[in-house]
Amino acid sequence: MKSLSDIGMKDKKILIGITGGISSYKICNLVRLFVKAGADVKVVMTPSAVKFVSPLTLSVLSKNDVVINTFPDIHDYSKAEKSALSTWHVNYGLWADVFVIAPATANSIAKIEAGICDNFLLCTVFAARCPVVLVPSMDEDMFNHRITQRNIESLKKNDFIVINPVYGELASGLIGMGKMPEPETVFSFVKNHFFTARDFLGKKILVTAGPTREPVDAVRFISNYSSGKMGFEIAEAAFKRGADVTLITGPVTLKESEGIKRYDVKTADEMFIEVKKHFRKQDVIVMASAVSDFKPLDKSDKKIKKDKKENFKVEFVKNPDILKFLGDNKKKFKLVGFALETDDELINARKKFKIKNLDLIVLNNPLDEGAGFEIDTNVVTFLDMKGYEKLPLMSKSEVADRILSKINEIN
Ligand SMILES: Cc1cc2nc3c(=O)[nH]c(=O)nc-3n(C[C@H](O)[C@H](O)[C@H](O)COP(=O)(O)O)c2cc1C
Repeated sequence: MKSLSDIGMKDKKILIGITGGISSYKICNLVRLFVKAGADVKVVMTPSAVKFVSPLTLSVLSKNDVVINTFPDIHDYSKAEKSALSTWHVNYGLWADVFVIAPATANSIAKIEAGICDNFLLCTVFAARCPVVLVPSMDEDMFNHRITQRNIESLKKNDFIVINPVYGELASGLIGMGKMPEPETVFSFVKNHFFTARDFLGKKILVTAGPTREPVDAVRFISNYSSGKMGFEIAEAAFKRGADVTLITGPVTLKESEGIKRYDVKTADEMFIEVKKHFRKQDVIVMASAVSDFKPLDKSDKKIKKDKKENFKVEFVKNPDILKFLGDNKKKFKLVGFALETDDELINARKKFKIKNLDLIVLNNPLDEGAGFEIDTNVVTFLDMKGYEKLPLMSKSEVADRILSKINEIN
């Protein structure tokens, strides 16, 4: 993997706004990640944020002064300095390539939505010409409150970019939605979204996608509703991020970008053969296909005619377990599997994670609203050695990017 300073943040101007949330302490690490990646970082804070984290620490980490007050005491400054200071919120807004507000409190989100500029950070939001990214972080009830949700939706419609909070332990001790994503996730998002990260450059990734079809006779098959969208999004995202992508797909109607190496298969057996040809060379393997667990034992070579039978039975046998094979034969590659569970999701996914020797499992429940087959959104939970992280509803392309960033976080 390339070092952070090689991946395109050099001389990028990142303005970080900190508001008064408990997760402000995480921003020290976020600042470090940007600075390490070669970016030029400045920090602005609300007066409340200062209660949570020291401006001195942020100033040392960012190597720049931290601004809090809209009205500095300008008696101490020279004439030239006074003139620059008089409009400095505008200068900060114009300086930045991206303005990231993390954590963004319910209070500041509401003020931005209402157009209020009663502190330096808020003035800068309205003076900024660059994209503004909000990272809401708060107690679950504050986050779910219909007014907070209304404000966030309204800001999204007004071109603010929102990185959703995740599910986890909150400062209150409760477990729920509202936790700030880890600084690495925010950093990866900003890097990928605005500076088209090439953090998979030189990496080989194999992605499987789509359903398999298990023939019953010459014209009929057993299959599932998988559309292949999730796997294709992962392949596309990895390709954009510089990876050498091999895509093995069951029957789907999707098209891949020029440059992705695609192999079409129909049955689980065919997919297994193709995976065995390619798996040894990979750095990452993501098994996003919905492989049929079973196939008919006997397949009629001709169409089964209805006039010859009143009813008939099909006996099923197990298909090869491709994911288990990869886990048992794991060499240098990181292995990612998917778990589709409707009951005891976390327990079953954790079992699968262990049995299949995975590095990451992406769990989803097709019964969740916005999750599952044939749609453009998904609701997933990541499970790895360290624990689990539930993500809110998001587009499959965003999930794909989050999966890739998560893979990069795993050592
Ligand atoms: C200990 C403590 C933790 C807090 N954590 C959060 C938080 O995580 N998210 C939030 O929206 N508000 C939180 N608040 C409330 C904000 O600090 C409060 O609304 C404040 O006015 C926000 O000001 P600002 O948006 O100007 O920074 C917390 C307050 C306290 C005392």
